[in-house]
Amino acid sequence: MDYPFEPFKIKMVEPIYMTTREERERILKDAGYNLFNVKSRYITVDLLTDSGTGSMSQFQWAGIMQGDESYAGASSFERFEEAVKKFTGKKFVIPTHQGRAAEKIIAHVLLDKGDIAISNTFFDTTGANFQYQGAILYDLPSPESKNIFSEKMFKGNMDLDRLEKILKEEGKKVKVITMTLTNNTAGGQPVSVSNVKSVRELATKYGVLLHIDACRISENSYFVKMYEPGFDNKSIGEIVKETLSHADIVTMSAKKDGLVNIGGFIATDHEELSMRFKEMLILWEGFPTYGGLAGRDLEAIAIGLMESLDEDYLKYRIQQVRYLGEKFRNMGIPVMWPTGGHAVYVEASRFLPHIKRENFPGQALVVALYLEGGIRTTEIGSLMFGADRDVEHEFVRFAIPRRVYTRSHLDYVVKVMETISETKAHIKGLTIEYEPPFLRHFLVRLKPLA
Ligand SMILES: Cc1ncc(COP(=O)(O)O)c(C=O)c1O
Repeated sequence: MDYPFEPFKIKMVEPIYMTTREERERILKDAGYNLFNVKSRYITVDLLTDSGTGSMSQFQWAGIMQGDESYAGASSFERFEEAVKKFTGKKFVIPTHQGRAAEKIIAHVLLDKGDIAISNTFFDTTGANFQYQGAILYDLPSPESKNIFSEKMFKGNMDLDRLEKILKEEGKKVKVITMTLTNNTAGGQPVSVSNVKSVRELATKYGVLLHIDACRISENSYFVKMYEPGFDNKSIGEIVKETLSHADIVTMSAKKDGLVNIGGFIATDHEELSMRFKEMLILWEGFPTYGGLAGRDLEAIAIGLMESLDEDYLKYRIQQVRYLGEKFRNMGIPVMWPTGGHAVYVEASRFLPHIKRENFPGQALVVALYLEGGIRTTEIGSLMFGADRDVEHEFVRFAIPRRVYTRSHLDYVVKVMETISETKAHIKGLTIEYEPPFLRHFLVRLKPLA
């Protein structure tokens, strides 16, 4: 596949500093083999996350200069509110400083100990916030997602049969269904609008609230436009709104498709719920016209949300991910297929079959990528989830920041993977030295097996 044309020019640059292998060996040891502990100046290509790592446009930077930093009633909030209403189609808009702050608020309002929450697949912060309230989680990814190499589209869908079974069996204990679009934990795979609609019907039938985690809704909508019958003549904005029309509650980390470095929101049509969310917002985040953000952040989100609907941008974005995925696949590396919206996912237990799952093959590959080429990725497997949830795959995620890296950066990543493929028999597994009680991957310390 050809590398896609970038629909932008570069106006400002940030230098990349190189490290030697000896330096990287020492850095890894000091970091407890946890790449979250490595300083960014020691990273050559940073594919840790696509969250908050994108480049803003000249229009967003210009918007920042208009930030109204008034505590209450700022005009920046008016612009933000208008943009979020236009984007989501929802009536009530509550700003938060990022996605997990929105999740914490809705979890507190909706869930008590012993309640059940169901998802196509919970993202780690969403799942952890719900569990912190004492809720029991069910991940119901579609049966198609099990075959990670098939060509099938919309592997991010919810398994509707299992959903109805649980709704029937558990009755009123189920309080919320969360649809994550795209499904980050399940390979960044898109979800079809028809799947969301069917989940809506079941939610209505059983009297359960439907929550959509919309942080990659623009990318999801591009897949819908390209591959779901009946959507090719609709604009991305129309598809976003149609998808979200099925939700009672929308949360969004604007650090993804909001094209900003910080920010998020809750949006809903339910006035009473919005009031309860605002009560907690004031306690934890701030007054409802800023919600933990500066006025300038609200301006940048208002503009970024609209830019994310641009089809030329989305085409480039999705094809850039596909380019890296195809390069890996052509080298015989087990890659989740088709590639999703924001990242390439390598199945590390197949790539490194000599490493047992309890020794974290995914993290072993993450460490090898840093050691070989200063590349930072993240594990989404037993290390991230193994302590609390069932784990199907040992993924390493190569998340691509938005509008940041060019073809030569990705070709460098491919080259490093080539070298690793040739020497992978020498890569060792890891054991845990320290782990915290929640979201252990952020603070965990590891050491390589002898
Ligand atoms: C699907 C999904 N939901 C929620 C979040 C949490 O957002 P934030 O990092 O802004 O708290 C993320 C972040 O990566 C995510 O990928």
